[in-house]
Amino acid sequence: MTENTLTNVLEERHSGRSFDPSKKVSDKDLNELIKASHIAPSCYNDQPWRFLICSKENDSANFQKIWQALAEGNQKWAGQASHLIVVCSDTLFQRNSKPNRWGSYDSGAAAVFMMLKATELGLLTHQMGGFDEKKIAESFEIPSRYIPMSVMALGYELEKPTEYIRERRPIQEQYFKGEWGAGVQL
Ligand SMILES: Cc1cc2nc3c(=O)[nH]c(=O)nc-3n(C[C@H](O)[C@H](O)[C@H](O)COP(=O)(O)O)c2cc1C
Repeated sequence: MTENTLTNVLEERHSGRSFDPSKKVSDKDLNELIKASHIAPSCYNDQPWRFLICSKENDSANFQKIWQALAEGNQKWAGQASHLIVVCSDTLFQRNSKPNRWGSYDSGAAAVFMMLKATELGLLTHQMGGFDEKKIAESFEIPSRYIPMSVMALGYELEKPTEYIRERRPIQEQYFKGEWGAGVQL
């Protein structure tokens, strides 16, 4: 990346699958990711996200536990990552134990803050919904009020990754001006 402007970071972030198995994310960088995600916004500032972070190098047994819960298609590439991170969301507000309808929304925001910081640091992230939620919850004894929402692979991208093509639906199908369905024209 030439310059770390926000626009560059947004454009550079991509869910690549070509992780370099020889490169480990440093604890220093990991701390930066945690700090970035920690300042994400949330409903009532309840901060419903919980991140379970496992390093392949320093915590290989737990890394393997996550890897084993991944869907077969994801196992093929995610095992090359430096870290696997389970992003969980609290289903209840901490402030009053009532159901938190926005928990997963906020946890997604915290995950994106982490991913954008990772991009800024030259790292690659790729979230996965393809995993066995029950297996993860059981193997880490995650309390039932928390839902494992995604597993994020984190690491370095190979110098020569497989080709990546960004795909998006047309803007006017998703962004409306004034009334529902009135697609925005840029
Ligand atoms: C919640 C969530 C679950 C996802 N699950 C998977 C998955 O199981 N396997 C996979 O290869 N990619 C998965 N992805 C990555 C998406 O396919 C990817 O974000 C999308 O194609 C857009 O590409 P981009 O992230 O490179 O912009 C997931 C992304 C999100 C946010």
